[in-house]
Amino acid sequence: MAIAYLNGEWMQPEDARVSVFDRGFMFGDGIYEVMAVYDGEVFTLDQHLVRLQRSLDAIRLVSPHASEEWRSLILEAVARGQENPAYLYLQVTRGVAAPRNHVYPEVVQPTVLMTVMHAPVLERQNVVPLKVVTKEDFRWGRGDIKVVSLIANGLLKNEAIAEGFDDAILVRDGWVTESTAANVFIVKEGVIVTPPKSNYLLHGITRDHVVDLANEAGLSMEERSISESELLEADEVWVTSTGQEVWPVGQVNDQVIGNGSAGVVWQAVDDLFQASKRKSS
Ligand code: PDD
Repeated sequence: MAIAYLNGEWMQPEDARVSVFDRGFMFGDGIYEVMAVYDGEVFTLDQHLVRLQRSLDAIRLVSPHASEEWRSLILEAVARGQENPAYLYLQVTRGVAAPRNHVYPEVVQPTVLMTVMHAPVLERQNVVPLKVVTKEDFRWGRGDIKVVSLIANGLLKNEAIAEGFDDAILVRDGWVTESTAANVFIVKEGVIVTPPKSNYLLHGITRDHVVDLANEAGLSMEERSISESELLEADEVWVTSTGQEVWPVGQVNDQVIGNGSAGVVWQAVDDLFQASKRKSS
């Protein structure tokens, strides 16, 4: 049973209502997190709580809850939702302020929304490599803040789909940033590479987890910039996110990556990733 929490009350998600003067609705003035729930456990919860606070600080919104309060609210939502696996969506906006004004009040009552919804089970044997197209990353310069204003990401992804691809990998000044909703990794001659954290890309929790797993397993792992031509010439390309976990890419533009199927390094890292999910629960 899916469940929603809105400003202190529990309800069915379709019954949740916010004001048209909510700054999240009017201005996209809010931040969010998406967490995966496996066997009743929130995967990498501590890391999500740290990023939640970082996003709130970045938009200068005083957190309505201390970290331990967030934790118990999240765990209560999971317990009430009883969905497995599930995605927990958490959104905090700058609350209701009327009349509409770009200037936000210093003291606000943030709007807090959480939903727990059933997630599709990702059977590993059904993983089909993605076909992606490169596109100019025209988003704002603070991709590191997990803001709810995702219009650019949505436009870019829809453009990619209209052109016959599954998604877009974004390139800024010739350098790969991320995909529309995931981080990017390549493998070249056995070395795993992902772009370093910057203000142009989200500091993905899955990205960090994959970097840690690769380092712990003694795989060659580098965090450095990736040019568009390096992406096209890679032996393997993957994207990582809470929803996609570690997902292989088989084609970039008209260039087949490797032989178009999931690579051996992906297989090794995905095995580590799947094992880490079981360990956390
Ligand atoms: N998206 N980059 C972007 C632009 C994202 O939107 C996401 C996640 C990621 C990966 O972050 P993480 O590994 O912490 O999920 C990278 C979420 C899942 C979404 O918007 O649904």
